[in-house]
Amino acid sequence: MSNAEHHEGTRRDFLYYATAGAGAVATGAAVWPLVNQMNPSADVLALSSIRVDVSGVSEGSQITVKWLGKPVFIRRRTAEEIEEARSVDISDLVDPIARNANIDGSAEATDENRALDETGEWLVQMGVCTHLGCVPLGNAGDYALDGGVGGWFCPCHGSHYDTSGRIRKGPAPENLPVPPAEFVDETTILLG
Ligand code: FES
Repeated sequence: MSNAEHHEGTRRDFLYYATAGAGAVATGAAVWPLVNQMNPSADVLALSSIRVDVSGVSEGSQITVKWLGKPVFIRRRTAEEIEEARSVDISDLVDPIARNANIDGSAEATDENRALDETGEWLVQMGVCTHLGCVPLGNAGDYALDGGVGGWFCPCHGSHYDTSGRIRKGPAPENLPVPPAEFVDETTILLG
């Protein structure tokens, strides 16, 4: 089953459409549950940019899409997650750099510099631990909020990321990188 559509003749060589609505798994493993291991295939590896329909992503949940063969976490955060992320003092961070491909490379790791939109509702980041490359688990770790909301935990060697995807504890040296991403309409995020 595939809902994938490949379009030609646009400004970009490859556009890839993934539907994330209603929990559906679309486009042959382009979207898959967080806990699954990545299993990149040659055709997906070749796609330089993808469009992701996030209309089905509810507050407090996230989807994982595959881009350039790697998982990307797209999370729609709750007000509490945003508030927590924005209350952190930069001096408390292990990695003070935003690691956001969309802004200046020296920008500070404020939550405002990592979130995709101004309100901070959307956080898009690579689902690749900056230690040795495992896929962290969502809603987990010491920086998840009460009830296990937000934050990421990499069980490989115990790295804890906060609700902004910033490394706070464990061996990972850097924040989860934010890939090139933008909203191209109200419900579509373009990666790449
Ligand atoms: S790969 Fe994540 S903690 Fe080592």
